[in-house]
Amino acid sequence: MRNCTLLGAALAALAFTLSAAAAQDQAIPDDDLGLSKASVYDTPEPAVFEYAAPDAGSVGKRAVRSYNTAPPMIPHSTTDMVPITRDFNLCKDCHVQPDLIGMKIEPGMPVPAPVSHYLNAKKGDLHMGRWNCTQCHRPQADVKLLVESVFDRKAPLRRK
Ligand code: HEC
Ligand code: HEC
Repeated sequence: MRNCTLLGAALAALAFTLSAAAAQDQAIPDDDLGLSKASVYDTPEPAVFEYAAPDAGSVGKRAVRSYNTAPPMIPHSTTDMVPITRDFNLCKDCHVQPDLIGMKIEPGMPVPAPVSHYLNAKKGDLHMGRWNCTQCHRPQADVKLLVESVFDRKAPLRRK
């Protein structure tokens, strides 16, 4: 009886080794391993893309908000504007304009940072917790997604 068990175990171990070897033979092709349809050993050039407003101030389309109260995405390029430091913040020069709050913003006009961003909106004192704009706002270009998103921005508003 004991010998039978041993033989059984030995056969099972042999079968396992053989099937593992067979699985190893079925190699996955290099260009099926990653999201990008190129060999994982290549360094493909990223696709060229454009912002809705190539330069801040050129008339662009504002991006659709992902959800109510989401920080809006930046529709223009931020080249030469980042990183924001203690002494360098170009965003502020265009967007910290409390006088424009509530006014009609024509395309091409900088959207004023909202009241929530100031210590005192009347005096135009920016709240320092908002200094690092790119902590919450990121540039968004119209790019081809590698994986389609199934996020539904209206889902939380719908009741079943
Ligand atoms: C030269 C002026 C200028 C500078 C500098 C600038 N912006 Fe803008 N920004 C604009 C204009 C103008 C728009 C409106 C879109 C358009 O018409 O191009 C805009 C749009 C935006 C929006 C979209 C607002 C909305 O409600 O959809 C955000 C967010 C934004 N900018 C953030 C930033 C941040 C963060 C920086 C710094 C990294 C920055 N901007 C620098 C001019 C500027
Ligand atoms: C802590 C996160 C945070 C930081 C930092 C921040 N913002 Fe915002 N911002 C938001 C959110 C959230 C909203 C959307 C507010 C809402 O819908 O009530 C917003 C809205 C805006 C808007 C759109 C206003 C409108 O009427 O559509 C602009 C423009 C903007 N921010 C510019 C800036 C700039 C410029 C800075 C840096 C000086 C900055 N923000 C820093 C979170 C942030």
